[in-house]
Amino acid sequence: MDIVVCVSGGGTNLQAIIDKVADGTISDTRIVGVISNNADAYALTRAKLAGIDAVCVSPKNYDDREAFNEALLNTVDKYDPDLVVLAGFLVNIPATMVAKYRNKIINIHPSLIPSFCGKGCYGLKVHEKALERGVKVTGATVHFVDEGTDTGPIILQKAVEVMEGDTPEVLQRRVMEQAEWIILPKAIDMIAKGYKIS
Ligand code: GAR
Repeated sequence: MDIVVCVSGGGTNLQAIIDKVADGTISDTRIVGVISNNADAYALTRAKLAGIDAVCVSPKNYDDREAFNEALLNTVDKYDPDLVVLAGFLVNIPATMVAKYRNKIINIHPSLIPSFCGKGCYGLKVHEKALERGVKVTGATVHFVDEGTDTGPIILQKAVEVMEGDTPEVLQRRVMEQAEWIILPKAIDMIAKGYKIS
Protein backbone atom coordinates (compact mmCIF):
# COMPACT_ATOMS: atom_id res chain seq x y z
CA MET A 1 0.00 0.00 0.00
CA ASP A 2 1.33 3.42 -0.96
CA ILE A 3 0.56 6.17 1.55
CA VAL A 4 0.91 9.93 1.61
CA VAL A 5 1.22 11.55 5.04
CA CYS A 6 0.01 15.14 5.52
CA VAL A 7 1.50 17.15 8.39
CA SER A 8 1.59 20.67 9.83
CA GLY A 9 3.96 20.64 12.78
CA GLY A 10 6.41 18.55 14.78
CA GLY A 11 5.57 15.29 13.08
CA THR A 12 5.80 12.88 16.01
CA ASN A 13 2.96 10.85 14.52
CA LEU A 14 4.77 10.84 11.17
CA GLN A 15 7.87 9.55 13.01
CA ALA A 16 5.82 6.75 14.59
CA ILE A 17 4.63 5.75 11.11
CA ILE A 18 8.17 5.92 9.64
CA ASP A 19 9.54 3.78 12.50
CA LYS A 20 6.76 1.19 12.29
CA VAL A 21 7.01 0.86 8.52
CA ALA A 22 10.77 0.34 9.00
CA ASP A 23 10.41 -2.33 11.72
CA GLY A 24 7.57 -4.15 9.94
CA THR A 25 4.84 -3.39 12.52
CA ILE A 26 3.04 -1.73 9.61
CA SER A 27 3.07 -4.38 6.90
CA ASP A 28 3.28 -4.03 3.12
CA THR A 29 3.32 -0.23 3.22
CA ARG A 30 5.50 2.45 1.69
CA ILE A 31 5.41 6.19 2.48
CA VAL A 32 5.56 7.70 -1.01
CA GLY A 33 5.34 11.33 0.05
CA VAL A 34 4.92 13.79 2.89
CA ILE A 35 2.98 17.02 2.35
CA SER A 36 3.05 19.99 4.74
CA ASN A 37 1.07 23.23 4.58
CA ASN A 38 3.78 24.80 6.72
CA ALA A 39 7.28 25.30 5.32
CA ASP A 40 8.78 25.39 8.84
CA ALA A 41 7.25 22.13 10.02
CA TYR A 42 9.89 19.88 11.62
CA ALA A 43 7.91 17.01 10.12
CA LEU A 44 9.45 17.93 6.73
CA THR A 45 12.92 17.43 8.20
CA ARG A 46 11.89 14.08 9.67
CA ALA A 47 10.71 12.99 6.20
CA LYS A 48 13.93 14.12 4.52
CA LEU A 49 16.07 12.38 7.17
CA ALA A 50 14.18 9.18 6.39
CA GLY A 51 14.76 9.64 2.65
CA ILE A 52 11.08 10.30 1.90
CA ASP A 53 9.98 12.79 -0.75
CA ALA A 54 8.61 15.84 1.10
CA VAL A 55 6.91 18.96 -0.23
CA CYS A 56 5.31 22.10 1.15
CA VAL A 57 1.99 23.31 -0.26
CA SER A 58 1.29 26.51 1.64
CA PRO A 59 -1.89 28.62 1.32
CA LYS A 60 0.49 31.60 1.51
CA ASN A 61 1.69 30.81 -2.01
CA TYR A 62 -1.78 30.91 -3.60
CA ASP A 63 -4.18 33.77 -4.38
CA ASP A 64 -7.19 32.18 -2.69
CA ARG A 65 -8.42 29.08 -0.94
CA GLU A 66 -9.71 27.54 -4.14
CA ALA A 67 -6.27 27.73 -5.77
CA PHE A 68 -4.66 26.23 -2.65
CA ASN A 69 -7.24 23.41 -2.52
CA GLU A 70 -6.57 22.61 -6.16
CA ALA A 71 -2.80 22.58 -5.61
CA LEU A 72 -3.19 20.31 -2.58
CA LEU A 73 -5.32 17.84 -4.51
CA ASN A 74 -2.94 17.91 -7.49
CA THR A 75 0.01 17.22 -5.18
CA VAL A 76 -1.77 14.26 -3.57
CA ASP A 77 -2.81 12.96 -7.02
CA LYS A 78 0.79 13.00 -8.24
CA TYR A 79 1.71 10.39 -5.62
CA ASP A 80 -1.28 8.22 -6.63
CA PRO A 81 -1.67 6.94 -3.04
CA ASP A 82 -3.88 4.09 -1.82
CA LEU A 83 -4.32 5.94 1.48
CA VAL A 84 -3.85 9.53 2.68
CA VAL A 85 -2.95 9.84 6.37
CA LEU A 86 -3.62 13.13 8.17
CA ALA A 87 -1.05 13.10 10.98
CA GLY A 88 -1.55 16.46 12.65
CA PHE A 89 -2.60 18.15 9.40
CA LEU A 90 -4.40 21.29 10.49
CA VAL A 91 -6.08 22.10 7.18
CA ASN A 92 -9.73 21.53 6.23
CA ILE A 93 -9.77 18.86 3.55
CA PRO A 94 -11.57 20.24 0.48
CA ALA A 95 -14.85 18.49 -0.41
CA THR A 96 -13.47 17.62 -3.87
CA MET A 97 -10.62 15.70 -2.24
CA VAL A 98 -12.95 13.93 0.21
CA ALA A 99 -15.13 12.85 -2.73
CA LYS A 100 -12.18 11.67 -4.83
CA TYR A 101 -10.56 9.78 -1.93
CA ARG A 102 -13.72 8.55 -0.17
CA ASN A 103 -12.76 6.13 2.62
CA LYS A 104 -9.12 6.55 1.62
CA ILE A 105 -8.28 9.42 3.99
CA ILE A 106 -7.78 8.83 7.72
CA ASN A 107 -7.15 11.31 10.52
CA ILE A 108 -5.79 11.11 14.07
CA HIS A 109 -7.56 13.28 16.65
CA PRO A 110 -6.24 13.64 20.22
CA SER A 111 -9.49 12.93 22.12
CA LEU A 112 -12.18 10.29 22.37
CA ILE A 113 -14.53 11.54 19.62
CA PRO A 114 -17.28 12.83 20.01
CA SER A 115 -15.75 14.66 23.00
CA PHE A 116 -13.50 17.68 22.43
CA CYS A 117 -13.54 17.74 18.65
CA GLY A 118 -14.99 19.69 15.74
CA LYS A 119 -14.23 23.06 14.24
CA GLY A 120 -11.47 24.98 16.04
CA CYS A 121 -10.68 22.09 18.39
CA TYR A 122 -7.24 20.80 17.50
CA GLY A 123 -3.77 20.32 18.94
CA LEU A 124 -3.18 21.65 22.45
CA LYS A 125 -6.68 23.20 22.57
CA VAL A 126 -8.19 19.73 22.79
CA HIS A 127 -6.28 19.00 25.99
CA GLU A 128 -7.04 22.45 27.45
CA LYS A 129 -10.75 21.75 26.99
CA ALA A 130 -10.49 18.27 28.47
CA LEU A 131 -8.77 19.67 31.58
CA GLU A 132 -11.28 22.55 31.83
CA ARG A 133 -14.16 20.04 31.78
CA GLY A 134 -12.43 17.89 34.37
CA VAL A 135 -12.70 14.56 32.57
CA LYS A 136 -10.82 11.70 34.22
CA VAL A 137 -10.26 9.79 30.98
CA THR A 138 -9.37 11.10 27.54
CA GLY A 139 -7.57 9.47 24.61
CA ALA A 140 -7.25 9.47 20.84
CA THR A 141 -9.31 8.45 17.82
CA VAL A 142 -8.45 7.38 14.27
CA HIS A 143 -11.31 7.88 11.83
CA PHE A 144 -12.05 8.08 8.12
CA VAL A 145 -12.46 11.63 6.85
CA ASP A 146 -15.83 12.76 5.49
CA GLU A 147 -17.18 16.24 4.68
CA GLY A 148 -17.54 17.21 8.35
CA THR A 149 -14.91 18.02 10.97
CA ASP A 150 -14.05 14.86 12.96
CA THR A 151 -17.38 13.26 11.96
CA GLY A 152 -16.28 10.32 9.80
CA PRO A 153 -16.51 6.61 10.71
CA ILE A 154 -14.31 5.64 13.66
CA ILE A 155 -11.62 2.99 13.11
CA LEU A 156 -9.81 2.84 16.47
CA GLN A 157 -9.89 4.60 19.83
CA LYS A 158 -7.68 4.29 22.91
CA ALA A 159 -8.33 5.71 26.35
CA VAL A 160 -5.70 7.52 28.45
CA GLU A 161 -6.00 8.54 32.11
CA VAL A 162 -5.92 12.18 33.15
CA MET A 163 -3.71 12.66 36.23
CA GLU A 164 -3.93 15.11 39.11
CA GLY A 165 -1.90 18.25 38.28
CA ASP A 166 -1.78 17.63 34.50
CA THR A 167 -1.01 20.65 32.32
CA PRO A 168 -2.24 20.63 28.70
CA GLU A 169 1.33 19.93 27.56
CA VAL A 170 1.83 17.00 29.95
CA LEU A 171 -1.54 15.51 28.98
CA GLN A 172 -0.81 15.99 25.27
CA ARG A 173 2.45 14.08 25.60
CA ARG A 174 0.78 11.20 27.52
CA VAL A 175 -2.00 10.94 24.91
CA MET A 176 0.61 10.81 22.15
CA GLU A 177 2.76 8.18 23.91
CA GLN A 178 -0.05 5.96 25.17
CA ALA A 179 -2.54 6.32 22.31
CA GLU A 180 -1.70 8.25 19.13
CA TRP A 181 1.65 6.66 18.29
CA ILE A 182 0.06 3.23 18.79
CA ILE A 183 -3.36 3.47 17.15
CA LEU A 184 -2.40 5.47 14.04
CA PRO A 185 0.21 2.93 12.87
CA LYS A 186 -2.19 0.12 13.87
CA ALA A 187 -5.02 1.58 11.77
CA ILE A 188 -2.68 1.89 8.77
CA ASP A 189 -1.65 -1.75 9.18
CA MET A 190 -5.31 -2.82 9.45
CA ILE A 191 -6.12 -0.99 6.20
CA ALA A 192 -3.04 -2.48 4.50
CA LYS A 193 -4.45 -5.89 5.49
CA GLY A 194 -7.83 -5.08 3.91
CA TYR A 195 -9.89 -3.38 6.67
CA LYS A 196 -12.89 -1.52 5.24
CA ILE A 197 -15.88 0.32 6.69
CA SER A 198 -18.52 -2.28 7.53
C1 GAR B 1 -1.36 15.45 17.35
O1 GAR B 1 -1.65 15.45 18.72
C2 GAR B 1 -2.61 15.18 16.53
O2 GAR B 1 -3.47 14.27 17.14
C3 GAR B 1 -3.22 16.55 16.48
O3 GAR B 1 -2.12 17.41 16.24
C4 GAR B 1 -0.95 16.85 16.88
C5 GAR B 1 0.18 16.81 15.89
O4 GAR B 1 1.38 16.40 16.49
N1 GAR B 1 -4.22 16.65 15.46
C6 GAR B 1 -5.36 17.32 15.61
O5 GAR B 1 -5.65 17.98 16.58
C7 GAR B 1 -6.32 17.22 14.41
N2 GAR B 1 -7.61 17.73 14.75
P1 GAR B 1 2.59 15.82 15.65
O6 GAR B 1 2.90 16.82 14.53
O7 GAR B 1 3.73 15.73 16.62
O8 GAR B 1 2.20 14.47 15.10
